[in-house]
Amino acid sequence: MPLKAAAHIEAMSAFALANFGGHDRPTLAQNESAFPPSPSAIAAGQDAIARSNLYPDPDWTALRQAIAQAYGVEPDLILCGAGSMELISCTIAAFAGPGAEVLGTSYAYNFVASAAARTGAAYVKAAEQDFAVSVDNILAAVTPATRIVFVCNPGNPTGTVIRNAELLRLRTALRGDVLLVIDAAYGEFDDQDPRPLFALVARGDTVVLRTLSKAYGLAGARVGWGLFAPSVAAEVRKLQNSNQVTTASLAMAVAAVEDEPYMRQTVARTARIRDGFAQDLRAAGYEVTESRTNFVLVRFPDAAAAEAAERALRGADIIVRSLGGYGLTDCLRATVGPQEIMDRALRILIDMHGE
Ligand SMILES: Cc1ncc(COP(=O)(O)O)c(C=O)c1O
Repeated sequence: MPLKAAAHIEAMSAFALANFGGHDRPTLAQNESAFPPSPSAIAAGQDAIARSNLYPDPDWTALRQAIAQAYGVEPDLILCGAGSMELISCTIAAFAGPGAEVLGTSYAYNFVASAAARTGAAYVKAAEQDFAVSVDNILAAVTPATRIVFVCNPGNPTGTVIRNAELLRLRTALRGDVLLVIDAAYGEFDDQDPRPLFALVARGDTVVLRTLSKAYGLAGARVGWGLFAPSVAAEVRKLQNSNQVTTASLAMAVAAVEDEPYMRQTVARTARIRDGFAQDLRAAGYEVTESRTNFVLVRFPDAAAAEAAERALRGADIIVRSLGGYGLTDCLRATVGPQEIMDRALRILIDMHGE
């Protein structure tokens, strides 16, 4: 008998990362920060490397304190993970499984589908409206089998946000045995006050996820966090590997969270480049969503035009993200990179549109 993986694993496809064309230079394909981490985070990481003979603090005590202070939340409600991806995986595995449905939205971050598939749960998508999450469509798609509703706000790859009031309406309308996960990986780019969403966690049926990979420029350190009610956290922690956030990553994360002015400056600089890029593309006739993230979604007249643009950019060593995996074959997603790269990308796209 040949060796076989578990049937539900064999049936799932591997999570597709961007195609970098074989080089490891920065790209506009992974929504990494255009700016390096805070200098104090770099210094703290360098210092902590010397303590790598010791296992890291498995309770992330210093980081939870720093996050609690910066975001005005209870340290006891915080779980940290090796990126928010780890927390997404473990949360879905804890609350869904064979026979359960995980309900996302048409353009919700694709990793959620993968995290659902590995548990044997079905992943179902509620349609978005005009590239934004529709609470009405989510509520219409809930079935007795729904165990988790997963909403990215701001959305990836759309970049759009819905109002907090809509998420509160969603939570109120959902059954109490449905876990609502609000993935706010780009939350620092959203000007809405996050506290009303943080407050939902006390209900015991809602999780809010954040990451240091975007606004804090620490994608390579792999640090995410979330707010979990104690009863939810107890289940999720059973699935987390101990010591998964390294000593150096924890030290960097603490210093980064404590350097709020640097983070705010990164967000402002990113938003400035983003808005200029989007405005110039719109002036050239492109459709661009209203982004509250560190990337923009550009819509082309058709899939062939999007493909041609992707190729032309790649020819200039600018790698953006194709979105066939989301069914958005006529769109490309471009992370906000350094101004000089965005200017080059803009010139290529404007020239193409004139053809
Ligand atoms: C919506 C969303 N959630 C979560 C993540 C994962 O981030 P990380 O695991 O780096 O925290 C990403 C990364 O691109 C994302 O776009």
